[in-house]
Amino acid sequence: MIIPQSTERVFRPLPQLVIEANVNPQQLARAHAAANQDPLAYWEEAAQELEWFHKWDAVLDDRYAPRFRWFPGAQTNIVHNALDRHITTGVKNKLALIWEGEAGDTRKYTYYEVYREVNKLANALRSLGLGKGDRVVLYLPLVPQAAFAMLAVAKIGAVHCAVFPGFSAKALRTRIQELRPRLVITADGFYRGGRLIALKNAVDEALERGCDFVEGVIVVRRAGLDTPMNESRDLDYDAIVRRERWEAATEVMGSDDPLFILTTSGTTGTPKGILHGHAGYMVGLARTLHWLFDIKPTDIFWCTSDLGWITGHSYVLYGPLIAGTTTVMYEGHPLYPQADRMWDIVDRYGVTILYTTPTVIRMLMRYGDQYPAMHDLSTLRLLASVGEPLGVDAWLWLYKNAGHSRCPLLDTWWQTETGCAMIAPFPVSVLKPGSVHRPLPGISVDIVDEAGHAVDHGTLGRLVITRPWPSMPLDFVRPEDFDAAWQQNAWHTGDLALRDEDGLIHIHGRADDVLNIAGHRLSCAELELALQTHKAVAEAAVVGVPDRIKGEVAKAFVVLTPEFASLEDHGEIIRLLRQHLRKEVGPVAVLRSVVFVESLPRTESGKIARAALKALGEE
Ligand code: WTA
Repeated sequence: MIIPQSTERVFRPLPQLVIEANVNPQQLARAHAAANQDPLAYWEEAAQELEWFHKWDAVLDDRYAPRFRWFPGAQTNIVHNALDRHITTGVKNKLALIWEGEAGDTRKYTYYEVYREVNKLANALRSLGLGKGDRVVLYLPLVPQAAFAMLAVAKIGAVHCAVFPGFSAKALRTRIQELRPRLVITADGFYRGGRLIALKNAVDEALERGCDFVEGVIVVRRAGLDTPMNESRDLDYDAIVRRERWEAATEVMGSDDPLFILTTSGTTGTPKGILHGHAGYMVGLARTLHWLFDIKPTDIFWCTSDLGWITGHSYVLYGPLIAGTTTVMYEGHPLYPQADRMWDIVDRYGVTILYTTPTVIRMLMRYGDQYPAMHDLSTLRLLASVGEPLGVDAWLWLYKNAGHSRCPLLDTWWQTETGCAMIAPFPVSVLKPGSVHRPLPGISVDIVDEAGHAVDHGTLGRLVITRPWPSMPLDFVRPEDFDAAWQQNAWHTGDLALRDEDGLIHIHGRADDVLNIAGHRLSCAELELALQTHKAVAEAAVVGVPDRIKGEVAKAFVVLTPEFASLEDHGEIIRLLRQHLRKEVGPVAVLRSVVFVESLPRTESGKIARAALKALGEE
């Protein structure tokens, strides 16, 4: 875990930016005050800015607390707000999506073109018999069809469940078995770091036995790979959309109806499935785009996340489209073919807002100042980061080298569970590197001790959200996971944080046994279970250790089975374990080092004493 150092340096917005901002400092102060006094009125006003088939009976129903219901009685569909409603306005012919493949191939789609693609796919899905409530797993690279698939699934009222393509066949299988989708949408392969990576074969492997509930697999032809097709199950994306009409009705969804499920790691070995809905989620998103990201009609918005993460759902796809802005999608590696690729993209498309992660920033920083200097970055007006503690050095580097000391850099805190950004400075705020500033208007957080009492400024505690918020999860796939998060009348985020002397919040990483490897959440237990399935491993414990680029990586403590204990070549065992983890979980599970031990330290109750191991790991 990298603990952000405190700094006395602050950075003020340029006067021109304050004048032009969607929300100026006075309006922001008024919004905070009004939202504190009457949060429901604040969120109701936000909801009024969107279109509804039928308005709500109340803003909030707390009868089933902590499963709060936002906008009960309302009817809508997020796709109506992200797409359909733009077709009758000037946004119709504006670019919705700029896509670039790693090899440099590009595709651009106007809102009207996206609308047509989505409708055709929606019709094709309906022809297959899919409809409201059906689950569809998306195991797709960052190609335009991934965006169309999410929107088409949502349009017909089905539920998309994206699985990051960096997860292995095994990890995909676990998720498919838990989610029981009727359909899987995938691609033959994709390009990353100059390599062609096959994908469809992982789906075949994942579905091998006992997944008869999956009726079909749609395959996007991205890489021209000669992919074996299972006649009775597999369908070609182009073939099924080709004959469909370009108009499709948008399913009417209640405010409680799920839009998507995303699985993310918690403290236990099995990932948690989190359900988000149409209504509250889109209200939260719309507000952050207009207020926090200060969207203007001419913006080109580039969030570098994969669509398979919540950041991709919220800020590559739904948020930008709801705001009617142009969103950029880049398929490949940020350093391919060399370390100026991102700056080249910013330059060529005139990107105005760049939203990325600390790992990417640290990677770019390591390659040096000369790469951003190779390009004209004058179109940039706002920078933002999410996913891990950013740290002061990386903050200052990006601010200077990409923003030329004139673009605000917003360190935004949130998580899969929150749906959209929760704690962040505004473009007009006085910025303090290392801090994520304050909660947005309408969001209330606190930092508490184990008993749930607020801690003093300067003291590390647990970050909790103390009032329901519109983009909160509807539920979890396993309801007990949801109940575990609501304790002492607040939502427990699992993060440690403190307030500094100015009242600004600093995030110090996770309080639980969750690793944050390059912004990807993985639980220690998940990796331990995976390691234990290898025949060399009798017992394993995993802890996080700091890493200069990825923020954190995994370190394993392993007790070998008798069969392997006498082997001299530990290097070979480590290689096998790394390979095994890659196969079981995927390339996201970066195992830095392995220490072989006789036994694992345990607490009195028999749990692995991770704190003791962590202290060893940091030596
Ligand atoms: C961490 C990603 C420090 C945090 C949107 C959180 C951060 C987890 C920040 C959620 C930040 C997110 N500073 N840490 N600005 N933003 N985190 O669910 O530990 O993939 O709980 O959502 O990332 O990760 P998730």
